[in-house]
Amino acid sequence: MADKLGVLVHGAGWVSTQHIKAFSNNPHTRVVAISSRKLESARMRADEAGLKDVGIYNDLNRALKHRGVDIVSICTPQHVHPENTVAAARAGKHIVIEKPVANTLAEMRRMRDAVRRAKVRTIVSFVLRWNPLFQTIKSLIADGALGKVYYSEADYQHHVGSFYKGYVDWHSAKRGVSPFLVGGCHAVDAARWFAAKGEFEAADPIEVFAYKGGWRKGKTIQYNPYQFRWERSAVGALEYDDLEVVLVRYGNGVVGKTAVHFGSIMPYQFPLAVFGDKGTVKDNRIWSHIFPGQHDWVTIPSVMPDSADVKHHPFQGEMDHFVDCILSKRESHCNLEDAIKTHEVAFAAMQCYKTGRPVRLPLLR
Ligand SMILES: NC(=O)c1ccc[n+]([C@@H]2O[C@H](COP(=O)([O-])OP(=O)(O)OC[C@H]3O[C@@H](n4cnc5c(N)ncnc54)[C@H](OP(=O)(O)O)[C@@H]3O)[C@@H](O)[C@H]2O)c1
Repeated sequence: MADKLGVLVHGAGWVSTQHIKAFSNNPHTRVVAISSRKLESARMRADEAGLKDVGIYNDLNRALKHRGVDIVSICTPQHVHPENTVAAARAGKHIVIEKPVANTLAEMRRMRDAVRRAKVRTIVSFVLRWNPLFQTIKSLIADGALGKVYYSEADYQHHVGSFYKGYVDWHSAKRGVSPFLVGGCHAVDAARWFAAKGEFEAADPIEVFAYKGGWRKGKTIQYNPYQFRWERSAVGALEYDDLEVVLVRYGNGVVGKTAVHFGSIMPYQFPLAVFGDKGTVKDNRIWSHIFPGQHDWVTIPSVMPDSADVKHHPFQGEMDHFVDCILSKRESHCNLEDAIKTHEVAFAAMQCYKTGRPVRLPLLR
């Protein structure tokens, strides 16, 4: 075996810059190939990162045959993730899958079955699990600082538009599908994460009820929160409702809520709240029985989940954890099987819009 695990990064866009950086920094991995739809995109990423001697491809199946590939990092748009994952699993590679993993339950089942058959390791990029504030809150919960958690809430408040390159796919009902899938799955995952007591454990959703609404569906008008101005979408109207609100009941008795906005008129925010019978966390503020003389919130100085910029996301922590899982032959807490539980909340919400009734989970048996 080579001295380092070889990484193939597939889909040479925005998020791939951070996957390449994280795997280049990890002492046990080396980026050996980059593939994309266009050769020049793959080449540009290699040049930017100063990578010499890397294979450059515009075809995943040929790239998978590149010498020394152990891990495939899938950074393509969401509608391509299922076929990419199945191909990588069949080739026997460990896989990083960007969120959302798939646009339908059937695709998710195919991916799960291919990964099970191939017995490869996976991680899905719910990268906020490595955010320092998330780690602090999880450690507080595991230490009993909040007592028994009974309610967990995470919201995703964003205004997506054609100022993001990926919006060319995200705005479409076929390729983006819903706010929960495109970006809100991060918040669903966060609420699951804080609903479980274990430091490296997320709770199992067992029932979902949801509403959708908002104001942007069918409109091309968008608010650019980077330039503080209204403009027209360069790629067409948003084809689905821009607000989804979901209530989740977990197997351990915790109740949760997530609201996902794609039309909020403000800079990006990701508010959190966790309530226990001995304390409460609101973002980076804590009220706890471990501070008996407390008469105001204790504020934890930390890195907040308050940016949509991939440069701000803790991909290094995620990839270091995954490499460690591969080397120590153990599963990640954020593997495909676990991520399916997060995605099922989004699919259950869609079922609920049709029936108006609560939906029992799991959906995939
Ligand atoms: N975990 C996170 O926090 C996070 C953050 C941002 C994005 N993401 C996710 O990462 C994924 C990519 O997002 P992004 O913002 O990086 O998008 P992006 O900038 O549009 O990059 C996607 C790249 O994939 C390539 N591509 C498109 N279709 C392809 C195909 N059929 N086969 C091969 N390559 C193809 C395109 O390459 P060419 O230039 O060659 O056409 C494009 O550059 C999405 O699922 C997104 O939700 C996750």
